[in-house]
Amino acid sequence: MRLQKAMSQLGLCSRRQAEELINQGKVKVNGVLVQEMGVQVTLKDKIEIIGQSNKSVNTNTVTFLFNKPLGVVSSVKDDRGRKVVTDFFNNENYRLYPVGRLDYNTSGALLISNDGELTNLVTHPSTHLNKTYIVTIDSEVKDEHLKLLEKGVMLEDGLTQPSIIKVLKRTTTYSLISITIHEGRNRQVRRMFEHFSYHVKNLHRESIGFLNLNGIERGKYRLLTNQEVEKIKTICKQNKSKNIIPEYKRK
Ligand code: URA
Repeated sequence: MRLQKAMSQLGLCSRRQAEELINQGKVKVNGVLVQEMGVQVTLKDKIEIIGQSNKSVNTNTVTFLFNKPLGVVSSVKDDRGRKVVTDFFNNENYRLYPVGRLDYNTSGALLISNDGELTNLVTHPSTHLNKTYIVTIDSEVKDEHLKLLEKGVMLEDGLTQPSIIKVLKRTTTYSLISITIHEGRNRQVRRMFEHFSYHVKNLHRESIGFLNLNGIERGKYRLLTNQEVEKIKTICKQNKSKNIIPEYKRK
Protein backbone atom coordinates (compact mmCIF):
# COMPACT_ATOMS: atom_id res chain seq x y z
CA MET A 1 0.00 0.00 0.00
CA ARG A 2 1.05 3.63 -0.41
CA LEU A 3 3.12 5.09 2.40
CA GLN A 4 0.58 7.79 3.26
CA LYS A 5 -2.21 5.18 3.56
CA ALA A 6 -0.05 3.04 5.86
CA MET A 7 0.77 6.09 8.00
CA SER A 8 -2.90 6.86 8.47
CA GLN A 9 -3.79 3.19 9.12
CA LEU A 10 -1.08 3.04 11.77
CA GLY A 11 -2.62 6.11 13.39
CA LEU A 12 0.54 8.20 12.89
CA CYS A 13 -1.32 11.04 11.16
CA SER A 14 -3.94 11.68 8.47
CA ARG A 15 -3.15 10.91 4.80
CA ARG A 16 -2.94 14.63 4.00
CA GLN A 17 -0.54 15.25 6.88
CA ALA A 18 1.49 12.25 5.72
CA GLU A 19 1.87 13.81 2.26
CA GLU A 20 3.05 17.08 3.83
CA LEU A 21 5.53 15.26 6.06
CA ILE A 22 6.88 13.25 3.10
CA ASN A 23 7.26 16.47 1.06
CA GLN A 24 9.10 18.08 3.98
CA GLY A 25 11.54 15.11 4.10
CA LYS A 26 10.42 14.08 7.58
CA VAL A 27 9.53 10.42 7.01
CA LYS A 28 11.83 7.40 7.19
CA VAL A 29 11.00 3.82 6.14
CA ASN A 30 13.23 1.14 7.66
CA GLY A 31 15.70 3.88 8.59
CA VAL A 32 15.91 5.35 5.05
CA LEU A 33 14.67 8.89 4.39
CA VAL A 34 11.81 8.96 1.87
CA GLN A 35 12.50 11.44 -0.93
CA GLU A 36 9.58 10.88 -3.28
CA MET A 37 5.83 10.31 -3.29
CA GLY A 38 4.26 6.99 -4.14
CA VAL A 39 6.55 4.72 -2.10
CA GLN A 40 4.92 1.32 -1.47
CA VAL A 41 5.18 -0.23 2.01
CA THR A 42 3.51 -2.86 4.20
CA LEU A 43 2.33 -2.37 7.77
CA LYS A 44 5.33 -4.45 8.87
CA ASP A 45 7.82 -1.84 7.62
CA LYS A 46 9.26 0.46 10.29
CA ILE A 47 7.79 3.89 9.56
CA GLU A 48 9.05 6.87 11.54
CA ILE A 49 8.28 10.56 11.53
CA ILE A 50 11.52 12.42 12.24
CA GLY A 51 11.19 14.26 15.53
CA GLN A 52 8.53 11.90 16.81
CA SER A 53 10.61 8.73 16.76
CA ASN A 54 11.56 9.00 20.43
CA LYS A 55 7.97 8.65 21.49
CA SER A 56 7.77 5.09 22.70
CA VAL A 57 4.59 3.30 21.71
CA ASN A 58 3.66 -0.35 22.10
CA THR A 59 3.78 -2.09 18.76
CA ASN A 60 2.19 -5.45 19.62
CA THR A 61 -1.25 -5.70 18.07
CA VAL A 62 -4.37 -5.01 20.12
CA THR A 63 -8.03 -4.68 19.21
CA PHE A 64 -10.75 -3.10 21.31
CA LEU A 65 -14.52 -3.30 20.94
CA PHE A 66 -15.82 0.25 21.49
CA ASN A 67 -19.36 1.44 22.12
CA LYS A 68 -19.27 4.65 20.09
CA PRO A 69 -21.50 7.47 21.35
CA LEU A 70 -23.39 9.78 18.98
CA GLY A 71 -21.58 12.93 17.88
CA VAL A 72 -18.11 11.40 17.54
CA VAL A 73 -16.11 11.14 14.29
CA SER A 74 -14.75 7.70 13.28
CA SER A 75 -11.23 8.98 12.71
CA VAL A 76 -7.96 9.72 14.52
CA LYS A 77 -8.19 13.47 13.87
CA ASP A 78 -10.85 15.89 12.70
CA ASP A 79 -10.12 19.07 10.73
CA ARG A 80 -13.17 20.70 12.34
CA GLY A 81 -11.97 19.96 15.87
CA ARG A 82 -14.80 17.55 16.70
CA LYS A 83 -14.32 14.67 19.11
CA VAL A 84 -12.83 11.57 17.44
CA VAL A 85 -13.07 7.93 18.51
CA THR A 86 -9.39 7.67 19.47
CA ASP A 87 -9.89 10.48 22.04
CA PHE A 88 -11.49 7.77 24.20
CA PHE A 89 -8.23 5.77 24.10
CA ASN A 90 -5.77 8.41 25.30
CA ASN A 91 -4.71 6.18 28.19
CA GLU A 92 -3.79 3.33 25.85
CA ASN A 93 -0.20 3.53 24.72
CA TYR A 94 -0.84 2.26 21.17
CA ARG A 95 -1.22 3.95 17.80
CA LEU A 96 -4.86 3.04 17.33
CA TYR A 97 -7.32 3.75 14.54
CA PRO A 98 -10.94 2.81 13.82
CA VAL A 99 -11.56 -0.32 11.75
CA GLY A 100 -14.06 1.01 9.20
CA ARG A 101 -16.44 3.71 10.27
CA LEU A 102 -19.77 4.61 11.75
CA ASP A 103 -21.43 7.92 10.82
CA TYR A 104 -21.09 10.87 13.20
CA ASN A 105 -24.73 10.31 14.17
CA THR A 106 -24.58 6.52 14.48
CA SER A 107 -23.76 4.88 17.80
CA GLY A 108 -22.60 1.39 18.70
CA ALA A 109 -20.07 -1.31 17.98
CA LEU A 110 -16.82 -0.19 16.38
CA LEU A 111 -13.47 -1.99 16.43
CA ILE A 112 -10.47 0.14 17.36
CA SER A 113 -7.15 -1.48 16.59
CA ASN A 114 -3.55 -1.25 15.40
CA ASP A 115 -3.78 -4.61 13.62
CA GLY A 116 -3.38 -4.02 9.87
CA GLU A 117 -4.35 -7.57 8.91
CA LEU A 118 -7.57 -7.42 10.91
CA THR A 119 -8.39 -4.02 9.41
CA ASN A 120 -7.91 -5.21 5.85
CA LEU A 121 -10.01 -8.32 6.45
CA VAL A 122 -12.88 -6.62 8.28
CA THR A 123 -13.14 -3.66 5.91
CA HIS A 124 -12.67 -5.56 2.64
CA PRO A 125 -16.03 -5.97 0.81
CA SER A 126 -15.26 -9.60 -0.15
CA THR A 127 -15.06 -10.78 3.47
CA HIS A 128 -18.78 -10.32 4.20
CA LEU A 129 -18.78 -9.89 7.95
CA ASN A 130 -22.34 -9.57 9.29
CA LYS A 131 -23.21 -6.34 11.08
CA THR A 132 -26.51 -5.85 12.89
CA TYR A 133 -28.09 -2.42 13.29
CA ILE A 134 -31.11 -1.24 15.25
CA VAL A 135 -32.94 1.38 13.21
CA THR A 136 -35.64 3.70 14.52
CA ILE A 137 -37.82 5.28 11.84
CA ASP A 138 -40.48 7.96 12.21
CA SER A 139 -43.54 5.98 11.06
CA GLU A 140 -45.16 2.57 10.75
CA VAL A 141 -43.00 0.42 8.51
CA LYS A 142 -44.83 -1.37 5.68
CA ASP A 143 -44.48 -5.13 5.15
CA GLU A 144 -43.98 -4.68 1.40
CA HIS A 145 -40.99 -2.39 2.10
CA LEU A 146 -39.52 -4.86 4.59
CA LYS A 147 -39.67 -7.60 1.95
CA LEU A 148 -37.84 -5.41 -0.54
CA LEU A 149 -35.27 -4.34 2.07
CA GLU A 150 -34.62 -8.04 2.69
CA LYS A 151 -34.39 -8.92 -0.98
CA GLY A 152 -32.28 -5.98 -2.14
CA VAL A 153 -32.86 -2.32 -2.88
CA MET A 154 -31.53 -0.45 -5.91
CA LEU A 155 -29.45 2.43 -4.55
CA GLU A 156 -27.43 4.89 -6.63
CA ASP A 157 -24.35 2.62 -6.26
CA GLY A 158 -26.22 -0.58 -7.15
CA LEU A 159 -28.43 -3.28 -5.72
CA THR A 160 -27.95 -4.13 -2.03
CA GLN A 161 -27.23 -7.73 -1.02
CA PRO A 162 -29.98 -9.62 0.82
CA SER A 163 -30.40 -8.58 4.45
CA ILE A 164 -32.04 -10.14 7.50
CA ILE A 165 -34.84 -8.05 9.02
CA LYS A 166 -36.75 -8.35 12.29
CA VAL A 167 -39.41 -5.92 13.41
CA LEU A 168 -38.87 -5.23 17.12
CA LYS A 169 -41.69 -2.70 17.53
CA ARG A 170 -44.23 -1.19 15.15
CA THR A 171 -46.58 1.67 16.08
CA THR A 172 -48.32 4.36 14.03
CA THR A 173 -45.66 6.92 15.01
CA TYR A 174 -42.45 4.91 14.93
CA SER A 175 -40.93 1.48 14.19
CA LEU A 176 -37.89 -0.25 15.63
CA ILE A 177 -36.22 -2.65 13.20
CA SER A 178 -33.18 -4.90 13.41
CA ILE A 179 -31.32 -5.25 10.10
CA THR A 180 -28.28 -7.44 9.44
CA ILE A 181 -26.14 -6.67 6.40
CA HIS A 182 -22.66 -7.73 5.37
CA GLU A 183 -21.75 -4.89 3.05
CA GLY A 184 -20.20 -1.67 4.27
CA ARG A 185 -21.25 0.95 1.78
CA ASN A 186 -21.33 4.57 2.81
CA ARG A 187 -24.50 5.41 4.84
CA GLN A 188 -25.96 2.15 3.58
CA VAL A 189 -28.62 1.49 6.21
CA ARG A 190 -29.85 5.10 6.18
CA ARG A 191 -29.99 5.08 2.38
CA MET A 192 -31.90 1.77 2.32
CA PHE A 193 -34.65 3.21 4.53
CA GLU A 194 -34.57 6.64 2.86
CA HIS A 195 -35.19 4.82 -0.43
CA PHE A 196 -38.74 4.22 0.85
CA SER A 197 -38.97 7.78 2.23
CA TYR A 198 -38.59 6.74 5.87
CA HIS A 199 -36.74 9.15 8.09
CA VAL A 200 -34.11 7.39 10.23
CA LYS A 201 -34.37 8.92 13.69
CA ASN A 202 -31.75 6.75 15.33
CA LEU A 203 -29.16 4.23 14.15
CA HIS A 204 -27.19 1.96 16.46
CA ARG A 205 -24.84 -0.89 15.52
CA GLU A 206 -25.54 -3.71 17.92
CA SER A 207 -22.96 -6.25 16.75
CA ILE A 208 -20.11 -7.03 14.38
CA GLY A 209 -20.03 -10.74 13.57
CA PHE A 210 -20.34 -12.58 16.90
CA LEU A 211 -19.14 -9.55 18.90
CA ASN A 212 -21.88 -7.68 20.74
CA LEU A 213 -21.83 -4.78 23.18
CA ASN A 214 -23.14 -6.68 26.23
CA GLY A 215 -21.70 -5.05 29.34
CA ILE A 216 -20.00 -2.19 27.46
CA GLU A 217 -21.53 1.21 28.24
CA ARG A 218 -21.62 4.10 25.73
CA GLY A 219 -18.15 5.63 25.43
CA LYS A 220 -16.51 2.55 26.98
CA TYR A 221 -14.62 -0.38 25.46
CA ARG A 222 -13.09 -3.74 26.17
CA LEU A 223 -9.98 -5.50 24.88
CA LEU A 224 -10.71 -8.46 22.61
CA THR A 225 -9.00 -11.73 23.48
CA ASN A 226 -6.55 -13.26 21.00
CA GLN A 227 -9.10 -16.03 20.40
CA GLU A 228 -11.78 -13.48 19.47
CA VAL A 229 -9.43 -11.68 17.07
CA GLU A 230 -8.38 -14.97 15.44
CA LYS A 231 -12.02 -16.05 15.15
CA ILE A 232 -12.99 -12.81 13.37
CA LYS A 233 -10.02 -13.20 11.00
CA THR A 234 -10.93 -16.84 10.29
CA ILE A 235 -14.57 -15.96 9.51
CA CYS A 236 -13.44 -13.22 7.11
CA LYS A 237 -10.93 -15.53 5.39
CA GLN A 238 -13.50 -18.31 5.03
CA ASN A 239 -16.07 -15.91 3.56
CA LYS A 240 -13.45 -14.51 1.20
CA SER A 241 -12.48 -17.96 -0.06
CA LYS A 242 -16.15 -18.54 -1.00
CA ASN A 243 -15.48 -15.71 -3.44
CA ILE A 244 -18.97 -14.23 -3.43
CA ILE A 245 -19.10 -11.19 -5.69
CA PRO A 246 -21.42 -8.53 -4.28
CA GLU A 247 -24.40 -7.94 -6.56
CA TYR A 248 -23.60 -4.25 -7.00
CA LYS A 249 -20.18 -5.16 -8.45
CA ARG A 250 -21.58 -7.67 -10.98
CA LYS A 251 -21.83 -6.37 -14.51
N1 URA B 1 -25.15 2.51 7.72
C1 URA B 1 -25.37 3.83 7.89
O1 URA B 1 -26.24 4.40 7.26
N2 URA B 1 -24.59 4.49 8.78
C2 URA B 1 -23.63 3.91 9.52
O2 URA B 1 -22.97 4.56 10.32
C3 URA B 1 -23.43 2.54 9.33
C4 URA B 1 -24.19 1.86 8.42
